[in-house]
Amino acid sequence: MSTIVIVGAGGHGKVLADALLARGEAVAGFVDADSRLHGQTVLGLPVLGGDDRILPGWLLVNGIGSVADPGLRMRVERSFGQRGFCFLTVIHPAASVARGVSSGEGCQIMAGAVIQADATLGRGVIVNTRASVDHDCRLGDFVHIAPGATLSGGVDVGEASHIGTGAVVVEGVRIGRGCLVAAGAVVVREVPDGARVAGLPARAMTP
Ligand SMILES: CC(C)(COP(=O)(O)OP(=O)(O)OC[C@H]1O[C@@H](n2cnc3c(N)ncnc32)[C@H](O)[C@@H]1OP(=O)(O)O)[C@@H](O)C(=O)NCCC(=O)NCCS
Repeated sequence: MSTIVIVGAGGHGKVLADALLARGEAVAGFVDADSRLHGQTVLGLPVLGGDDRILPGWLLVNGIGSVADPGLRMRVERSFGQRGFCFLTVIHPAASVARGVSSGEGCQIMAGAVIQADATLGRGVIVNTRASVDHDCRLGDFVHIAPGATLSGGVDVGEASHIGTGAVVVEGVRIGRGCLVAAGAVVVREVPDGARVAGLPARAMTP
């Protein structure tokens, strides 16, 4: 059995640790770039040190959260991936994943999340606490559906976009790559690549 280590001992990492422990997985602990955390415990698991503590063959969990910018999260995953490491997919036992759902490496589906039939998730996607992704949605790599957000059926979200806490996207809408949908927004029409939208109905945020 491979040693499982969470990269990042902050809030997102802690939620992942809890999900893994709830599944009965043996988690060796965390690594974190912040040396002040080294030697401490999080949820009873040790912070082992920095990235240099990771040994070949260990199975990694990406514990770096992302609010609006998934850049660091993506860089960590790509850099470890180039060195041959794999990222574990984590599905909390209290999440509901329907038949026909496909997901890439390293997806994270948190407690209370619901993913409906034939949805497709790229790699490194987060479907956070109590978020809902309905049938036939397509989420690109490193998309983050934040807590409580709701995607109706057939929504398409491009790579590295963030759908904020409690946002709603109506059925069939396309959201481009690298977009930010603000917390609580209601998206009723297409969002172009790189756009930031907020409000009801969602409109471009002024820079
Ligand atoms: C959109 C967001 C990134 C803006 O953050 P920011 O750039 O720091 O913006 P500010 O808080 O400085 O606010 C800028 C303006 O946008 C408005 N605004 C901010 N968030 C908004 C929202 N969700 N809906 C509507 N308007 C919003 C502010 O009222 C402010 O307006 P003003 O200039 O008229 O006073 C942030 O509010 C947000 O929604 N983040 C997503 C949170 C999330 O999903 N977290 C998940 C954690 S797991």
